[in-house]
Amino acid sequence: MVTVVEEKRFKEQMQRRVEAVEAILREYLPQEEGYQKTVLEAMNYSVLAGGKRLRPMLMQEMYRLFGGKSKMIEPFMAAIEMIHTYSLVHDDLPAMDNDEYRRGRKTTHVVYGEAMAILAGDGLLNYAFETALKAYDMVPEGEEQRPEIYQAIGKALRILAAKAGVYGMIGGQTADIEAEKKDRLTREQLLFIHEKKTAALIQASMMAGAVLAGAGEEELIAVEKCAYDIGIAFQIQDDILDVVGDSALLGKPIGSDEKNHKQTYVTLNGLERSKEEVRRLSGEAAEILTRLEEERRPGDSEGSSSDREYLRQLVMMLVDRRN
Ligand code: IPE
Ligand code: IPE
Ligand code: MG
Ligand code: MG
Ligand code: MG
Repeated sequence: MVTVVEEKRFKEQMQRRVEAVEAILREYLPQEEGYQKTVLEAMNYSVLAGGKRLRPMLMQEMYRLFGGKSKMIEPFMAAIEMIHTYSLVHDDLPAMDNDEYRRGRKTTHVVYGEAMAILAGDGLLNYAFETALKAYDMVPEGEEQRPEIYQAIGKALRILAAKAGVYGMIGGQTADIEAEKKDRLTREQLLFIHEKKTAALIQASMMAGAVLAGAGEEELIAVEKCAYDIGIAFQIQDDILDVVGDSALLGKPIGSDEKNHKQTYVTLNGLERSKEEVRRLSGEAAEILTRLEEERRPGDSEGSSSDREYLRQLVMMLVDRRN
């Protein structure tokens, strides 16, 4: 049970973190100038529209959990939000889900036209890597001689690239689009779509955060599993909200899945079982987090206990989220 006071404190902590993420985003987004100004404006329009900033937040929390202290994480936080936002800009295109609202505003293609929305998505994907690569210039003083730091940056880049790619998010979007024309999907097919289109970028966020802070191989496997659970729960909840959500709160239309003949966890299993599954997976993820924290910082070393609580509360909050 969460008390009203706890909930209020959590909301304040969350607000502070969202503001911190947005300050970082503003720092790394491109200047709107030059002959390519329009695409730069469209990129910034979509990223700065708002959104929960869940992925950079999870990345930063994992970085903290594993003891990371440098600003090197910041270009990676900006990069994952750019990749995520590009996936939304393209997801909303007429050729895909054909939606006109996102993050409480008209979608990028409605405002800038389809060609510019395609280019803004491309631009964000590429700029994400240009941005993440800046971490190489941010190795903390005194650590320049440690090869492990450069290896960690390389590994985080590899994770980002793979989880966003054809074996990750793009693969999931491909199966999602093709499923519109298929007869009833099996549970395995639906889980493939959820894992790839949604869990993959959450895995990228959490794994990159962990790797940059120096997490080991076994820890990384646990982080990947935890992020899988969070990602599947997150997409099931997204599908639930597409049916019973409030579009004003969501900042995007409801009924998009039905309009596009999407088969979702809800159409296959019903609302009640879907809600139960979100609860189960979130609980499982929270348990993995507790275990990782206990192993990393037994008792309490650094980091206040409220910082430690925050991540678990965030995961459990996703169960009841309304946006
Ligand atoms: C929407 O992601 C797309 C899905 C993977 C379900 P979010 O719900 O995180 O969207 P924003 O970033 O808050 O707008
Ligand atoms: C999209 O899933 C996931 C990605 C953009 C990769 P949805 O199509 O369900 O996301 P929303 O509901 O439009 O945000
Ligand atoms: Mg979609
Ligand atoms: Mg969509
Ligand atoms: Mg959806």
